[in-house]
Amino acid sequence: MSNTVNILNGLELLYPDNSVISQLKRTLHSYPKVEPGLVNAYSIGQIKSKLWLIDHLPDNLGMVFICAGWYGTLASFMFDKARHKFDKIRSFDIDPSCYSVADTMNKPWVIDGWQFKASTLDIHSMKYPTEYSTYRSNGTSLSLSESPDTIINTSCEHIENFDTWYFKIPNGKIVVLQSNNFFEVEEHINCSNSLEEFANQTPMEHVHYSGELFFDKYTRYMRIGIK
Ligand SMILES: C[S@@+](CC[C@H](N)C(=O)[O-])C[C@H]1O[C@@H](n2cnc3c(N)ncnc32)[C@H](O)[C@@H]1O
Repeated sequence: MSNTVNILNGLELLYPDNSVISQLKRTLHSYPKVEPGLVNAYSIGQIKSKLWLIDHLPDNLGMVFICAGWYGTLASFMFDKARHKFDKIRSFDIDPSCYSVADTMNKPWVIDGWQFKASTLDIHSMKYPTEYSTYRSNGTSLSLSESPDTIINTSCEHIENFDTWYFKIPNGKIVVLQSNNFFEVEEHINCSNSLEEFANQTPMEHVHYSGELFFDKYTRYMRIGIK
């Protein structure tokens, strides 16, 4: 048994009905190999950044597409803390190993009418409305066509040809974007040097929030508005 599972087992005795503990235990039980990634997704920097986002989310987000949604942690925090602000969440990641982990993390909302559903998709192939395939729990696939009201991307620093992706988003959509200046990480191929540089990359018709969150090794930038 890994140290993480050991700690979670102990915590579960203390807090038997805690949804985050059961969510993590369930996911690590089904996907033990993703433990290092999940531990990273629950690091202090990741959680602070997600709570910062939730604190500034406007109301009436409608159908939310989380682009480059990884293991679905932001979605699970939004269900926990901001359920009144949105209708449904769809999570898309190019990595085919992410969707089943994200669906397991958000299982209660997958089971309940697909309030959450994760799928594999290169966000560069996203059209509006978006046609994509997803998998049911029995392994069969289904083609869907859905349109977002809100597009969230907290992984802008990871997106190659970011400008091409951003300019394809139709004007009038709500956009919620985070990036950072953490150039040292190899996968960070689209960092920004400043909030101003990030703003130049993400022009908006109306800005609802624009700010910085400081960490020891990097600064995270966030912009929320109407494209
Ligand atoms: C390490 S994660 C997320 C880190 C980020 N700070 C966050 O918390 O949201 C970055 C994700 O971007 C995904 N990604 C990168 N390029 C993508 C693309 N073109 N389409 C969809 N997902 C992409 C990767 O597969 C990965 O899961």
